[in-house]
Amino acid sequence: MKLNSFLVGLNAVQFTALASAMPAHVRRANSSGMTYADEMFTTAIEWNDGFWDEDAGYLIAAASNDGRYDSRHSGWYATQLLARNAPGDVARAIRIFDNLISAQYLDPKWQWYGDYQGSPSQPLPGTPEYVNSIYNSWDPNIRDFVGCAWLMALNDYDHLLPAETVTKVENSLHLAAKGDLYRVGGVDGDNLYPCYSNPWLMRTILQNWVGTRLGDKNLTDTSNKFAQEFYDLWSQHKTLSEFNSPTYAGVSMWALSLWSKYGSEDSLLKKYVPEILTTTWNDVSDLYNANLRNLAGPWDRTYGYNMMEYTSLLGAVIWGAVGREYAPFPKQTSGMYHQDDFAFYPLFALSMPEMLKYLSEKSKSKFITFPGEHFFTGQAYSPPYDTYPRNITTWMSENVTIGAETVAETVVGGPAESTSAFSPAVIQWAINDYQVGCISHWVSESSIHAVASPGSLKISYPNVTASDSPVSFNFLFSGFDVRHPSFNVTGLEGLPSLALKVDTNAAADYTIVYNTDQSVNDFIFYNITYTMPEGFTEEPYISLKMV
Ligand SMILES: *[C@@H]1O[C@H](CO)[C@@H](O)[C@H](O)[C@H]1NC(C)=O
Ligand SMILES: *[C@@H]1O[C@H](CO)[C@@H](O)[C@H](O)[C@H]1NC(C)=O
Ligand SMILES: *[C@@H]1O[C@H](CO)[C@@H](O)[C@H](O)[C@H]1NC(C)=O
Ligand SMILES: *[C@@H]1O[C@H](CO)[C@@H](O)[C@H](O)[C@H]1NC(C)=O
Ligand SMILES: *[C@@H]1O[C@H](CO)[C@@H](O)[C@H](O)[C@H]1NC(C)=O
Ligand SMILES: *[C@@H]1O[C@H](CO)[C@@H](O)[C@H](O)[C@H]1NC(C)=O
Ligand SMILES: *[C@@H]1O[C@H](CO)[C@@H](O)[C@H](O)[C@H]1NC(C)=O
Repeated sequence: MKLNSFLVGLNAVQFTALASAMPAHVRRANSSGMTYADEMFTTAIEWNDGFWDEDAGYLIAAASNDGRYDSRHSGWYATQLLARNAPGDVARAIRIFDNLISAQYLDPKWQWYGDYQGSPSQPLPGTPEYVNSIYNSWDPNIRDFVGCAWLMALNDYDHLLPAETVTKVENSLHLAAKGDLYRVGGVDGDNLYPCYSNPWLMRTILQNWVGTRLGDKNLTDTSNKFAQEFYDLWSQHKTLSEFNSPTYAGVSMWALSLWSKYGSEDSLLKKYVPEILTTTWNDVSDLYNANLRNLAGPWDRTYGYNMMEYTSLLGAVIWGAVGREYAPFPKQTSGMYHQDDFAFYPLFALSMPEMLKYLSEKSKSKFITFPGEHFFTGQAYSPPYDTYPRNITTWMSENVTIGAETVAETVVGGPAESTSAFSPAVIQWAINDYQVGCISHWVSESSIHAVASPGSLKISYPNVTASDSPVSFNFLFSGFDVRHPSFNVTGLEGLPSLALKVDTNAAADYTIVYNTDQSVNDFIFYNITYTMPEGFTEEPYISLKMV
């Protein structure tokens, strides 16, 4: 099956004609000379415009609700406004700089030193009415998200700004960079180890650019140290530790494009980025199914189960590379799940020319045409959480993908300790021409041996015994959004367009529940659960085989 196969066929011809005529990074979206990145920039910044509140001088929060307004989105928008530079845009950007900076946390004794608020209504963290809670009352990553957006603003558009604003933003970024140095994995509840790929990559360029711009050698030296620590881990398996995440692999690629574009000339960032970014593009293209328009599993961190229904950031990367028509991106911007991240898209668009320098023609073609059945194997490693490198196995076929990883960690839910995001075993398939089904293993164990092979998925738990009871295998099935009344979903063996046979040593009488109060990442699902009998002695396993 091919989603929109008519369009795909028609435009592949036009695309190939264009492709042969121009180098990759100047590819045009259409005959008027706009690039795909230009088109993405315009679509997304206009969407952001709709959230602007002139009275407040902030963007209204799009989905997640830390308050009425969203400081991080507003910070991103400031750079976007300077890039567009339409009437009124620069004045609006200056207001945002003033607003965010006026509330930046200034006291060096605070762990959130140099950070920005999540929302302007938030009181000072660490007070009785707003207790210190990392990632809740304050988010250490906002230094990196806003800091990276603003280094782009100063590097590329400072000529549009009054000198006093330039100085103010420079000073603010200096504080953000110094505050970022407080972050040490395992200390004070922070988890920023090199395996936390996306903020680690952002912090590295933030340190490098601010250090270079302001002549702070400690920051520049630190950026090289961070780049080296990252590379030492990355080069063990040549994979991002936050592997194959539809959202965060996008953030990592964006941050790497900043290493490439804004890193200082003799830095380790510049030295390492070509290999890392080229390899990441190749992995993403190998694990992408252009028929389903989805990245196959396993997903170390996901915010959804069908990229055609939620806003991912690999969606931005692929849109920038081959256009919206082929991108894993919802057809309607209204009602997109996880729409928050669309606010980020214009910054991806601005970085696209740099990012595309590392995308080969061969990998790019896989975003348009599925190259045929293949198998992916790889390893990814997230110390100190993993007791051994995770083994990734993914079977990619025309209409079905099965992806899995073995994992033995110290926590449940992956390094981010998020059961809703960590999806170590996933099957996706074409239910029909427009619906993509997904079975995702809902994790309840920290050691999971999940392995994919052609047409099959096997999951076992090497580290549980009967004393851990109840022990179960949970699967969430979603994607049957338009259910034909004559089709009842009754279990894993009765799914639309996917004939599976279940083999397990769990009890045969599984449970199945469809509960609209229990959405995960906005998706409503059938929860199918197989439970091990009391007093079991064998290693629990379940296998799903296509028949
Ligand atoms: C994929 O689905 C299409 C119909 O959508 C069908 O024609 C084709 O045979 C399927 N391919 C495989 C390998 O099952
Ligand atoms: C090119 O794309 C832009 C952005 O989508 C659109 O505004 C413009 O009309 C398109 N031009 C042509 C000739 O299709
Ligand atoms: C210099 O950077 C290191 C991290 O590389 C940090 O621990 C130290 O506090 C910094 N020193 C100053 C004076 O900022
Ligand atoms: C992972 O794969 C490696 C290399 O193939 C192998 O040596 C190792 O035993 C595997 N580990 C697990 C837990 O499957
Ligand atoms: C799981 O069990 C194996 C074998 O007993 C052991 O080597 C390993 O450390 C255990 N892993 C965890 C995460 O408990
Ligand atoms: C679906 O379930 C309903 C209620 O149990 C039943 O009336 C109907 O016949 C079932 N349809 C099919 C196709 O089995
Ligand atoms: C699925 O059902 C099982 C068994 O009732 C439960 O433990 C698990 O939390 C459910 N998962 C979700 C995501 O609701």
